[in-house]
Amino acid sequence: MTVNADSSTTSATAPSWRDLPAAQQPDYPDPTALRAVTQELEAYPPLVFAGECDQLRTRLAAVARGEAFLLQGGDCAEAFDQVSADQIRAKLKTLLQMSAVLTYAASVPVVKVGRIAGQYSKPRSKPTETRDGLTLPSYRGDSVNGAEFTAAARVPDPERLRRMYHASAATLNLVRGFTTGGYADLRQVHAWNQDFVRTSASGQRYEALAREIDNALNFMKACGADPAEFHSVEFYASHEALLLDYEAALTRTDSRSGKLYDVSGHMVWIGERTRQLDGAHVAFAAGIRNPVGVKLGPTTAPEEALALIDRLDPEREPGRLTFITRMGADRVRDLLPALVERVTASGAQVAWVCDPMHGNTFEAASGHKTRRFDDVLDEVKGFFEVHKGLGTHPGGIHVELTGDDVTECVGGGDEIFVDDLHQRYETACDPRLNRSQSLDLAFLVAEMYRS
Ligand code: PEP
Ligand code: CO
Repeated sequence: MTVNADSSTTSATAPSWRDLPAAQQPDYPDPTALRAVTQELEAYPPLVFAGECDQLRTRLAAVARGEAFLLQGGDCAEAFDQVSADQIRAKLKTLLQMSAVLTYAASVPVVKVGRIAGQYSKPRSKPTETRDGLTLPSYRGDSVNGAEFTAAARVPDPERLRRMYHASAATLNLVRGFTTGGYADLRQVHAWNQDFVRTSASGQRYEALAREIDNALNFMKACGADPAEFHSVEFYASHEALLLDYEAALTRTDSRSGKLYDVSGHMVWIGERTRQLDGAHVAFAAGIRNPVGVKLGPTTAPEEALALIDRLDPEREPGRLTFITRMGADRVRDLLPALVERVTASGAQVAWVCDPMHGNTFEAASGHKTRRFDDVLDEVKGFFEVHKGLGTHPGGIHVELTGDDVTECVGGGDEIFVDDLHQRYETACDPRLNRSQSLDLAFLVAEMYRS
């Protein structure tokens, strides 16, 4: 049975999210057309199962308790024309390689969650964009309008919600195939890492770590140990729950528990621009059983974090709530301690995850939006330092990356300079770490974990 979240998330007294202000929603010119699409979506099959969401919640509970590490990563914005086997495979391969290094260094399980199969909607700082005197509505992600700078492309089109569903389904299908069909074999992943160490400019630095992993795998092999976990991996999909019409259309009652799940992805998060306590996004997320993340930027007061816990995790259930902090490299050491201290003192057990991307964006002289690899690394370093100082667990990292050799962020072992940015600047939104920068980051975080 499918039930619209609107009709059943709320008690008689609690306001429905539909009665509350929802920031960052598209202005559809034809509400009837929107309704026709969401009605169809309500009848479509779920993309994920409630039981899988529960399993991820269990895994994230281990992160919250300090017994696991979360690696969450993928595009800032997925795009319909990038749903290809090559691109999805490269992204997965990168995440799996990073995860192998982190698992060894942290000596705890790494929970692998993609920003994938649903990450098509973008909140924007400005509602309009002006080029050469022409002002048009901002691009809000392929689920809303087109990136092309024409008046026609920028009109929000509800048909795009249907395309988002199908693009997500196709992506998830391939991800499931890759992660369980032998492609994700740990020995293969390790061989790719050895390849990286051999061929990349910065690779030599990681040789010792790669050799240790090699020894560990050889030891296991010699012992005759060949666990099933070596041959397939648990991988989950996540995205920002931005477009509430879409998320609600994919919210269903689980027949076993009678609870509501947003079956558009395993985990969803609320962004920095939509986390208003009295807003629709928080109300919507409060009504679903999925693990939920909330981005916390530099303006977050500790009281706000506590109020978010009250709204989203009233039972204080580890794994339910993940705080994804994005303070900026120069501020994380000042701003994070008060948040972590107050939340810890409240008794709540949230998972703390570092997004070292969104507080470190700047515009290069060429006009490209970019990030410095060193700033990204430094925010992660600050995040680890703060948690170490407080005796709390640095639970994971949340990064924007791609498996392709793009030139969107500057720095890294295979150094990309500001003058290189134009060469392969392909992101639909924010600048992503490329394949080699992502692996650099994993090896350097691994070093941090062990220091
Ligand atoms: C994002 O994750 O792409 C994003 C927009 O982040 P934030 O909400 O933290 O700005
Ligand atoms: Co982004």
